[in-house]
Amino acid sequence: MLEIKTLTKSFQSGSGARRVILDELSLSVQDGESVAIVGPSGSGKTTLLNMLGALDRPDRGDVLLNGESVFSKNEKQLAEFRNRSIGFVFQLHHLLPQLNLMENILLPVVAQQSAVDAASRERAEKLTRKLGITGLQNQRPGQLSGGECQRTAVARALINQPRILLADEPTGALDQQSSTQLADLLLQLNREENTSLIVVTHSMALASKMDKIYQLENGKLQLTEA
Ligand SMILES: Nc1ncnc2c1ncn2[C@@H]1O[C@H](COP(=O)(O)OP(=O)(O)OP(=O)(O)O)[C@@H](O)[C@H]1O
Ligand SMILES: [Mg+2]
Repeated sequence: MLEIKTLTKSFQSGSGARRVILDELSLSVQDGESVAIVGPSGSGKTTLLNMLGALDRPDRGDVLLNGESVFSKNEKQLAEFRNRSIGFVFQLHHLLPQLNLMENILLPVVAQQSAVDAASRERAEKLTRKLGITGLQNQRPGQLSGGECQRTAVARALINQPRILLADEPTGALDQQSSTQLADLLLQLNREENTSLIVVTHSMALASKMDKIYQLENGKLQLTEA
């Protein structure tokens, strides 16, 4: 279970004043649960995901994963936690252009153990089958469509069997049909792998497929009736 406890984050604005973006925000997400976070542009959705993915530290508050505090870890422990427990799918896929599809998927494995073992390769191949990107293994991102890149990014996010998959506008750059397909795939993987899924989106079509929808407003999350 993921527990977000009274998380507060503020930023210094250009004029020097501090703006509170997340204001003692709390939330629990069960294992295997899927959650959508919606809210206006600038409301703090990406800021929240960055905290959950331990890409940034809060001013106050903590995140507990299975009872273990994330923010009492030092930087080295945080990096390992990120790589092992969290999968991140960004709005822009952030694939490395000089690596082919398979190498991109296996990047988090290489980051952790320098060489790719047979089990990881097998898992990568299984993920490409699930995501419908077999046969493209040797192509680089420049030779893939936007949807194929996005599915490659999902495979990369899942390669280390994370406890939590965080996705920031994963379908933002895709057409209607590709976004529906990707949304269904994310949910299928979420069920099969019992990974908790937290998706930030402006799309109500995507949000309404999740178990719960929360609206981020004035630094706090409100449960929305779907
Ligand atoms: N590093 C930073 N320094 C200063 N201000 C920041 C920083 N990061 C974000 N902000 C501000 O915090 C607010 C929330 O930003 P955030 O990116 O979380 O919004 P968002 O809800 O993801 O918006 P969008 O839907 O447009 O992606 C914005 O007003 C932004 O300008
Ligand atoms: Mg954002």
